[in-house]
Amino acid sequence: MNLILMGLPGAGKGTQAQKIIDEFHLPHISTGDIFRAAMKNETKMGLAAKTYIDKGELVPDEVTNGIVKERLAEADTAKGFMLDGFPRSIVQAEALDSFGPELDRTINAVINIHVEPDVLIERLSGRYICRNCGATYHKLYNNPKVEGTCDVCGHHDFYQREDDKPETVKNRLAVNLKANTPLVDYYTKKNLLFTVDGNRDIDDVYVDIEKILKAL
Ligand code: AP5
Ligand code: ZN
Repeated sequence: MNLILMGLPGAGKGTQAQKIIDEFHLPHISTGDIFRAAMKNETKMGLAAKTYIDKGELVPDEVTNGIVKERLAEADTAKGFMLDGFPRSIVQAEALDSFGPELDRTINAVINIHVEPDVLIERLSGRYICRNCGATYHKLYNNPKVEGTCDVCGHHDFYQREDDKPETVKNRLAVNLKANTPLVDYYTKKNLLFTVDGNRDIDDVYVDIEKILKAL
């Protein structure tokens, strides 16, 4: 199955993506993760993307489309794949409609995790991430089983994302909110959209996603 995970910043795309990977073993293509890796390595693309990401703006479509096309072409899609955080504009969705089938990578379902914007601010401001493996936690809702030790890799070093600072979060939410509505319409018209109520516990959200995926 070929999936898109959609949702505003902090809706839980990354959190639910990890659960989907654990059960369905799909290659995970997260544009946010790709940009963060490029920023960390200070590549030309990473440094260019940083100027947008640090302000909470979207990276230009032509850059993002090129990266996703490349990753999709390389991915082992025997079991399918999961796009996380892409597409984020109609231009990106239309690009995917053109290169997806060309690469034999046509989308079967779009999972839209819906969370009210005021909840998202709390989600983003409490998020912390394992510096070693990238696993995501939350200081109120999702701490490691052993305090200060990553569940996934056992390391003890965590950080907060630069773009989770309050001044950036506000603009990120506004930018993504504006971009999200036309995409919801776009995939509703294509009969591909499944909206999940993301305002609940992580495991309850996943129960709904799992049901959708098993029925595909
Ligand atoms: P990206 O990394 O994709 O950021 P985002 O869309 O802002 O999403 P987040 O990663 O912030 O949130 P998430 O939905 O994954 O939530 P998470 O699971 O971590 O992109 C970063 C930037 O790159 C963008 O701003 C943009 O500049 C650029 N970019 C990326 N893709 C692009 C594209 N296609 N085009 C152009 N530019 C692009 O959860 C958040 C927190 O809440 C965590 O602490 C988690 O533990 C907690 N949590 C999760 N679920 C629950 C729950 N149900 N209950 C309570 N807490 C929960
Ligand atoms: Zn870790």
